[in-house]
Amino acid sequence: MPSGPQIILILKVLVSAVTVLLAASLVALAMKRPRLHGRINLAFFALTITTVFGFELLLRLGTDVTSQFSEAARDALRVHLYFAVPSALLLPAMLMTGLKRRRAIHLPLGLLFAALWIGTFVTGVFFLPHE
Ligand code: HEM
Repeated sequence: MPSGPQIILILKVLVSAVTVLLAASLVALAMKRPRLHGRINLAFFALTITTVFGFELLLRLGTDVTSQFSEAARDALRVHLYFAVPSALLLPAMLMTGLKRRRAIHLPLGLLFAALWIGTFVTGVFFLPHE
């Protein structure tokens, strides 16, 4: 069973990896390759969901990730979750509106999602302690 800090470190690596995919999907859009954007984001969706559920499972199996967190680290985690939870909730809506080509919804939602994801990434990777 991995320790709390090990889990945080693994999460940082996984979140960084899927963020590269998301960035690549936006590059595909900029290159006028919306189909490629969709294909990449299918993988982004699957990997992100797997990471979130895998993490939840580890927590349920009893590793207390935050037991050694300082007061400051707990505050950082709360701020992180303000970004991470809404972006996880938006993810299925992003996939549905993308697949159905509901551009009028997908685009504005995408801007919101991008802002929330950047917040999730920065607060998660730079402000949560993993040692
Ligand atoms: C982060 C900001 C995002 C922006 C600005 C954005 C924008 C777009 C745009 C402009 C299209 C083309 C729509 C059309 O052809 O009518 C599109 C298609 C699509 N998007 Fe996104 N998107 C974003 C994120 C995502 C995410 C996170 C997902 C999945 C989880 C996703 C999944 C898709 C899919 C599946 C398509 C359809 C591709 C196809 O035509 O085969 N997008 N997106």
